[in-house]
Amino acid sequence: MLKNKVIVLGISGGIAAYKAADLASKLVQCGAVVKVVMTWEATQLVQPLTFQALTGNPVVTDMFEPAPLSAITHVSLADEADIIAIVPATANIISKMAAGIADDILTCTVLATKAPIVIAPAMHNNMYINPVTQDNISKLKARGFTVIPAAHGRLASGSIGYGRLPEITEIMGIIQQTLGKKGDLAGKRIVVTAGGTQEAIDPVRYITNNSSGKMGYAVAEAARDRGATVTLITTPTGLSPVAGVDVINIRSAQQMKEAVVKATVKTDALLMVAAVADYMPKTTAAQKIKKGAGGLTLELVKTPDILSEVKGKFIKVGFAAETQDLISNAQKKLTGKGLDIIVANDVSAKGSGFGSETNKVTILKKDGKPEDLPLMSKREVAEKILDNVSKLLKGKK
Ligand code: C5P
Repeated sequence: MLKNKVIVLGISGGIAAYKAADLASKLVQCGAVVKVVMTWEATQLVQPLTFQALTGNPVVTDMFEPAPLSAITHVSLADEADIIAIVPATANIISKMAAGIADDILTCTVLATKAPIVIAPAMHNNMYINPVTQDNISKLKARGFTVIPAAHGRLASGSIGYGRLPEITEIMGIIQQTLGKKGDLAGKRIVVTAGGTQEAIDPVRYITNNSSGKMGYAVAEAARDRGATVTLITTPTGLSPVAGVDVINIRSAQQMKEAVVKATVKTDALLMVAAVADYMPKTTAAQKIKKGAGGLTLELVKTPDILSEVKGKFIKVGFAAETQDLISNAQKKLTGKGLDIIVANDVSAKGSGFGSETNKVTILKKDGKPEDLPLMSKREVAEKILDNVSKLLKGKK
């Protein structure tokens, strides 16, 4: 979580510096304390005042600006940072950092800090792929810097190639992941499924359900931010991809089963948040089914029950989306599917279930009392579920 975290946002002089304004604003909206440090070149592209207004903090641009008597600016910034994020990082600042040069306030702060450092290189394609730049990036990685690879696409010069600043949501995700590296799930592997499966009728039609994927994505993000290595097996959802997790895209229950079996060969926990279809068409027509004079009857057969069938010594968490007899139905699934935890979710309740940003759930456990939680955001629900997973994993040691 970004709340109250001190993020030193370093901005160097690339055209993408204007995008750092959006990043600063979004970090502040998440409750972070953002302190911006700009190189002289960056100030030629965007006014420091923009960042001061967005963050509510003075922007540092000069080594020799008067600071309070007790403080040396670069040392105090280096000490108070929970993380330093350099967005964008130009070829010049990357090479300076790789060589240990400290000739401005930003490079001095980098050299003086013990905080984790994330950089997002952005520059012209030829500068990015130049072996000197790539060597310097490798050096920084070897020293523990987290480097977000530049994206492919249209560059400021008009040419197409690698060198674009990645999406701000991706950068935010990597910052959160880096901050959470020493969390309670550090070193653990977590597999999460999300979305509603699609069971093909013919090449253009399928049967699905109302699952939005939001709950599964929230669990994947929360696990990532607590230090876990996460695999997210997802149906097409239209949600922004979760940065810093291994994403496996599938459509049908059968494909989800194959992906889950593969991913759980080595895992500590499986959280089946996906709404897996219970039935699929017996056959999928090879060609689009043509409209006839009468109706159309589809024969459906059962899908594989992934949770019941997947074997292994990992923690198993299921979801029970119900519209009636919530607790008794969930309890039956907890024992019937051999689970450690089941999250009972009344999807017909106001503000709860499919598509909403919030959820009201009861967490039932194989061992332990049920936890009846109030209506809360899906992220908060995810944290509560992971608290339980974390406790079980500690008990397993
Ligand atoms: O039996 P029901 O579909 O209600 O069970 C819900 C739980 O079981 C969810 O965690 C869901 O992901 C999982 N499930 C499964 N395979 C199925 C159907 C559901 O793993 N075919």
